[in-house]
Amino acid sequence: VSRRALLGTAGATGLVLGATGGAVGYAAAPARATPLTSVGTGRAVFHGKHQPGITEGLQARGHLVAFDLAPGAGRKEAAALLRRWSATAERLMAGEAAPHDDTDVARDAGPSSLTVTFGFGYGFFGRTGLEKQRPAALDPLPAFSSDHLDRTRSDGDLWVQIGADDALVAFHALRAIQKDAGSAARVRWQMNGFNRSPGATAHPMTARNLMGQLDGTRNPRPADADFDRRIFVSSATGPAWMANGSYAVVRRIRMLLDDWEALSRTAQEQVIGRRKADGAPLSGGDETTEMDLEKTDAKGEYLVPVNAHARITRPDRNGGAAMLRRPFSYHDGIDADGTPDAGLLFVCWQADPLRGFVPVQRKLDRGDALSQYIRHEASGLFAVPGGAAEGEYVGQRLLE
Ligand code: HEM
Repeated sequence: VSRRALLGTAGATGLVLGATGGAVGYAAAPARATPLTSVGTGRAVFHGKHQPGITEGLQARGHLVAFDLAPGAGRKEAAALLRRWSATAERLMAGEAAPHDDTDVARDAGPSSLTVTFGFGYGFFGRTGLEKQRPAALDPLPAFSSDHLDRTRSDGDLWVQIGADDALVAFHALRAIQKDAGSAARVRWQMNGFNRSPGATAHPMTARNLMGQLDGTRNPRPADADFDRRIFVSSATGPAWMANGSYAVVRRIRMLLDDWEALSRTAQEQVIGRRKADGAPLSGGDETTEMDLEKTDAKGEYLVPVNAHARITRPDRNGGAAMLRRPFSYHDGIDADGTPDAGLLFVCWQADPLRGFVPVQRKLDRGDALSQYIRHEASGLFAVPGGAAEGEYVGQRLLE
């Protein structure tokens, strides 16, 4: 692979808006001798129909943080907090310094495709006296028999997803958001994740997870005719304040990597129903070839096993249930027993969790081939309102 080819792909993270160049606003920064790399210049927009961080390509770094409103904080404090958070997110996503007491951590870097996304959890509505505005879609997820949930790392009144292609830019945003919370909200849990760096592969491709699989192949695409209907709340279906919003299901899914890695490649491929090298279905073709569920080998066995993860999760096997999976991998070190605490910060987006995550997870909970190699350890469900218009803050239509 030539250096030119590698450079040519830097920043190619799917839908993130392209380089704007130059407009990086630390006021006191000296003139730049060399331009930002293409990774630094990637810039997503804060104001728009939808919040950022949903349809943009995966970023190399991510932080998921949940907050609980502080005792005594109600609707007024929450509105002020969302106003502060929106102002900070808008500036940071433009590559500018935080409105107050910037820490300098992102100084010298461009926006680096930073996105900051805000959501409301079930408890938020009780604390702010807004129960009547709580959408039915936010009712707690059902319990699944295979759940091993740590409640201290689940749920939360408020949720913030931060993603960026630079680790310092992401951390900078995280600290600014935490400081903005002030006395209004306290961190309930935080998780840190990562994906492949843009430019690491010779051409843009579906990301790999920590099991080594191409993960995201069959995601709905914005160009699909039914994409908006599946992923975003329409003004006809949800409460008015959720128009153009989406529901995020967040699951910390540990991968039992010692067991997984003990399998042969062939056995691993049978678990998913796709080839590891290129993500092609075991029925043949390449990554984009339609999976043939009926095709059998000489012995009459299905080429894609009946319990293969990619067979079981298909929309056509789940009443049309579909979701946009936009995860980060995580690795939080090694447990006392020597097993890696690593896996997937599974984040999926849908217009209605009962027509997305829930039916598919119910099916998986009965045991697909992947189930014995993973463990769901934390869970959250958040209502993520539509994007803020110019001059508006996120959630304003709920809070004012
Ligand atoms: C497909 C891995 C958990 C839903 C896939 C594919 C892989 C994969 C490799 C095939 C490629 C693709 O289409 O993206 C994993 C791993 C998981 C996990 C490693 C846990 C660590 C889940 C969960 C759900 C889910 C919890 C939802 C409840 C789906 C869906 C598809 C899929 C909807 C695409 C099906 C289709 O449209 O054909 N997954 N998955 N996955 N997975 Fe998972």
